[in-house]
Amino acid sequence: MAVTSTPVLPGLPALPDPAAEAVLGSGLLEELSYAFGGPFHFLLPDAFDRNLAALRAVLAEAGLDGQVYYAKKANKAAVWVERCAEHGAGVDVASAGELREALGHGVRGEDLVVTGPAKNPELLRLAVRQGALIAVDSLDELDTVVMTALGGRARPARVLLRVLPAAQPHSRFGLTGDELEAALHRCAKAGPALRTEGFSFHLSGYDIQARADVAGTAIGLCLRARALGLEADRISVGGGLPISYTDAASWQEFLGTQHSGHYHARKSFGTGDFYPYHSRVSGAGALRALLAAHPEGHDRALADLLRESGTALLLEPGRALLDRAGGSVFRIQGVKERAGYLLLTVDGTSLSLSEQWFASEYLPDPRLISPDADRTGVARTEVRTEDRTGVRTEARSGAAEGPAGAHRAAVGAATCLESDMLSWRKITFPRRPRDGDLLVYPNTAGYQMDSNESPFHDLPLPPKVVIDHTDRPRPRWRLDRHFH
Ligand SMILES: Cc1ncc(COP(=O)(O)O)c(C=O)c1O
Repeated sequence: MAVTSTPVLPGLPALPDPAAEAVLGSGLLEELSYAFGGPFHFLLPDAFDRNLAALRAVLAEAGLDGQVYYAKKANKAAVWVERCAEHGAGVDVASAGELREALGHGVRGEDLVVTGPAKNPELLRLAVRQGALIAVDSLDELDTVVMTALGGRARPARVLLRVLPAAQPHSRFGLTGDELEAALHRCAKAGPALRTEGFSFHLSGYDIQARADVAGTAIGLCLRARALGLEADRISVGGGLPISYTDAASWQEFLGTQHSGHYHARKSFGTGDFYPYHSRVSGAGALRALLAAHPEGHDRALADLLRESGTALLLEPGRALLDRAGGSVFRIQGVKERAGYLLLTVDGTSLSLSEQWFASEYLPDPRLISPDADRTGVARTEVRTEDRTGVRTEARSGAAEGPAGAHRAAVGAATCLESDMLSWRKITFPRRPRDGDLLVYPNTAGYQMDSNESPFHDLPLPPKVVIDHTDRPRPRWRLDRHFH
């Protein structure tokens, strides 16, 4: 069956990323794919360092005390925690395993914040003993923390009280207004066993004004707690700083035109099913916008309220610290023709590209590269494309063949499950994908790599390699964990 020439479907080109381009251009990914014989993830720790520095710069610019805690759930690699230890940043952990990992990679106990609901006793014991900050999620948990601190006799337990945001009353996290009032009295009664350092919250979604509103409430709660003699000099606004994967025009066009005909098996997605792959403000810019927002009921910016009340700002970003900090590489091991598009099978599963968890799809366009090009001498053409913002990206590929839009393909996994698709979307490639080619999904470090990973079918979990390309002509690499 011939694949006919069809219009180019809306794509989601990744934003330009010189560091990732340098890796793509070096030939290293082809070598690693050969070495591992399966899918793998690559990590770019310099991007993590830059993102951390940019968030800290915004706090400094606003004259605020604060701490950035990396939300460890967003990616399990050791290298991020090592970077936190190196830079004195904190880590947000939600299990005893994550806490042990953070300590084992050099983060000090007092630089940890422990989040999550109904934490198990082992986690609470470790947290108290290590001097970690504990975001308390219920009155029962508060009692357990106090008992743990009294029993341990080592040091007071450091706590934040987690607020149930009025805007998300159905959230299963946080304490209601009445529970907070009761908690404050229990904290005051607990005496030196407890240090009530402030309040925390985390909102689903990416609405900046909504975060500013809850932050305003949390500052008010600090003042109330101080009146009861408690320390309460900090608030944590959790994570949820959005990042942009693609440009505004591509995202708008995609949202405005996508329909079931653009997906394998006529799968349909509502526009609200997707992560917002473009945000007007993102990363450190989103933090700046949050600090400039006026919380409901206040005529002052959040930054002013924090400064004037002597309240420090804690953040728990996951995705925003991992922006452009890595990619995921799969090898194509089968190509089938379907009516008007190709069906690719790669050597891994959608569990290594985890947006599927949210019944959604990871949308940024993967890049197609040919590992054989160098060895066989087949021409590697530079395919240059320009997005609507005039930004140029370069893709190395084999010779472009056929009319634009001819090479559309959805991407399936190497499993026997119909629904195990890495990309239901028919992606337009600059040439026909072939067996042995590599697909490089960009910017996958935040949540995509390992949130859902599973050795289903006894397939090995993709290894992670850390790439160092600072001041060197050719990038070098190591495994994320050195095996003994
Ligand atoms: C309590 C808490 N903090 C931080 C985060 C990290 O969020 P993000 O990766 O969107 O910054 C989460 C994510 O679910 C969370 O639940």
